[in-house]
Amino acid sequence: MEKITVIGAGNVGATCANVIAHKDLAKEVVLLDIKEGIAEGKALDIWQTSAINHFNTRVTGVTNDYSKTEGSGIIVITSGLPRRPGMSRDDLIKTNAKIVKDVTEKAIKHSPDAIIIVVSNPLDVMTYAALKASNRPANKVFGMAGTLDTGRYRAFLAEAINVSPNDIHAMLLGGHGDTMVPLPRYTSVNGIPVSQLLEKEKINSIVERTKKGGGELVNLMGTSAWYAPGAAAASLVEAIVDDQKIIVPLCAYLNGSYGLTDVYLGVPVKLGKDGIEEIIEIDLDDDEKKLLETSANSVKNVMKALDDMNIL
Ligand code: LAC
Repeated sequence: MEKITVIGAGNVGATCANVIAHKDLAKEVVLLDIKEGIAEGKALDIWQTSAINHFNTRVTGVTNDYSKTEGSGIIVITSGLPRRPGMSRDDLIKTNAKIVKDVTEKAIKHSPDAIIIVVSNPLDVMTYAALKASNRPANKVFGMAGTLDTGRYRAFLAEAINVSPNDIHAMLLGGHGDTMVPLPRYTSVNGIPVSQLLEKEKINSIVERTKKGGGELVNLMGTSAWYAPGAAAASLVEAIVDDQKIIVPLCAYLNGSYGLTDVYLGVPVKLGKDGIEEIIEIDLDDDEKKLLETSANSVKNVMKALDDMNIL
């Protein structure tokens, strides 16, 4: 790909740009921030690893100069305030919706054909904000959550079973919050159902830990995580650039799938060069359906709260 833009040079944005560069996913990655010097500095720092880590992707940092993002194939939006201890992701809604709207409008002007990946929190609702602000088709505007959440889930399982995290295959549904729905029935170790390798209680405790995985890190560090969120966003970029057609859970706009309409929610999709190429509906039992509905309602409430603010 010619150019990829990452908006927001905080920890998540910079990590994402770093991984994109390391994987040589584009000729250029542009890192943009509103804070003078920060994107320039981090971009320069990343670029100075090129000879050390053997990549060619040029890394450019700019302060609010959207003209430098012209012609990007993918725009990753990480802007917004991170969570502090005691804050839910939803506490961030108003401030971050204004920011996401503003950066989306500016970025899309210079890259009208871009695919937009949202990472800002509260994730599901910020993706909705980007959809409205960009006027792009919904299959080109989606949020990164499931890769991160299943990444955490797979890491916890790998530790508990003492196997390679690469061998853990998992699916997860729902919003990026405490109502997310990891699916043990769709979790296997290279095809072996996880239920054959781990006690039910242990699986349940890992599911619960996964749901609060972001909060665990906020409590440890006083701010939100960045290595896994940044790498997870970059992995979606890679799937698009390489037209991988991977099946991943991500935050997609639902218009009928799973019996849900007009809501952004985590579901399995096929991801390739055109963005979301298919939303995949997996069979759910009654309990799983209920959990998904609860999650959808929770996201819908926040979407409504955002609509009522008349920001978008
Ligand atoms: C997390 C934040 C990035 O889950 O949402 O760590």
